[in-house]
Amino acid sequence: MSDDDTHSRLELLEQNKLLIHELFQLEQDGHKDARELYHDEIAGFFIRTDDGSYTLTSDKRESQDSETLHSKYGAFSESYEKFVNPSNLLAIAQNKKSIRVLDICSGIGYNTTALLTHLKDEDVEIEIDMVESSIETLATVLFIPDVSKAYGYVKKEIESYLIDNGYLQFNKVLSNVPENIHINIHVCDAREFVKNQAKGKYDAVFLDPYSPSKSPELYTVDFFAKIKQFLEDYALILTYTAASPVRSALVHAGYHLGQGPTFHRSGGTIASLSADMITTPLSFSDEKVIALSDVGVPYIDPDLNDDYETIVSRRQSTREKIRGVNVFPSSSKLPRYIGLDPESIEDVNLREKLNNYVRAMGFESINDYRIHDILNIDPNLSSRDQILALEENLRKVLG
Ligand SMILES: C[S@@+](CC[C@H](N)C(=O)[O-])C[C@H]1O[C@@H](n2cnc3c(N)ncnc32)[C@H](O)[C@@H]1O
Repeated sequence: MSDDDTHSRLELLEQNKLLIHELFQLEQDGHKDARELYHDEIAGFFIRTDDGSYTLTSDKRESQDSETLHSKYGAFSESYEKFVNPSNLLAIAQNKKSIRVLDICSGIGYNTTALLTHLKDEDVEIEIDMVESSIETLATVLFIPDVSKAYGYVKKEIESYLIDNGYLQFNKVLSNVPENIHINIHVCDAREFVKNQAKGKYDAVFLDPYSPSKSPELYTVDFFAKIKQFLEDYALILTYTAASPVRSALVHAGYHLGQGPTFHRSGGTIASLSADMITTPLSFSDEKVIALSDVGVPYIDPDLNDDYETIVSRRQSTREKIRGVNVFPSSSKLPRYIGLDPESIEDVNLREKLNNYVRAMGFESINDYRIHDILNIDPNLSSRDQILALEENLRKVLG
């Protein structure tokens, strides 16, 4: 993997990227008004979300749709609801002289901006490492309307980065970054950052890639395991996704985890090295899906440098191998039904289908006593320990 290996990552829409490169060229050639000239064309890529803030759209991979960078219900609101409010950073800032935050996939900088806005009255040094692989996305930020005063600080730091690295040459952002704010911009694959550049300990991590099926490289057991060394014991990793392979990867990398807040779409996930930091456990139903079915197979990337296809097909082939053999198939939401009295399922076809899935694995029905042995775990355990206990019981029962 190298910094220009864009094939392994999903990034900004290609047309948006091309326009930014034209802009870079024009400004490098000395055109002082290049940004004014390109403003309207670049603004043509902005998508207005329900709270009035903007988002952009990704490129497409073959056979997949594109994806916006944020929720259409409110891009900037989502930053508060899913990342900043549940992060505990206000309380941490009130008890420490300095805080450090890792903003993975910083995109157009809304998560960082929401955090700076949230902490604006605190007497604390704030250091944020913004990690974003797409230089074009960072440059696009210079054109997005301000969502708060702190957006000006983010824009100023991005402009300085672009000038220092030869992409642009004119200082145009009129904003003075307060002395207590230190924003470090890292333009690279986030795996590269955690492997070779990260240092010290963070008080929180915002993990905001595209969805797991589009950016699996940032949801692997190995990526999460690598991040552990950079976390304070009380630090939270916050992400908007509730996907089972992500949660499974967090468990197998050694984290405790619970539900994150819901913002219009399904709730996110919060992880920590410390069980005490998790306030809302996962539902038992979610734990069963993660522990007992093929959907819980996590993404793996042993050296943190495999490409998209390798990571996706590795998980796919594991799923195919163990589905219906070592774990229950996830079809028809089977894991959610196991242990129920089949008669309680009114739809006779569904009842038969579910029973047939488990019969193929040697059980009599979804209510087999050995299925109850699998589900028999201590309800007082943390979600992590419940998932591990379910996995262990399944292994024992299936021999
Ligand atoms: C959902 S958006 C992030 C939105 C952002 N957090 C914000 O507040 O505006 C995902 C971002 O991840 C970036 N990205 C994709 N793969 C990456 C990778 N492997 N390493 C670093 N950044 C990546 C994309 O370029 C995109 O800007």
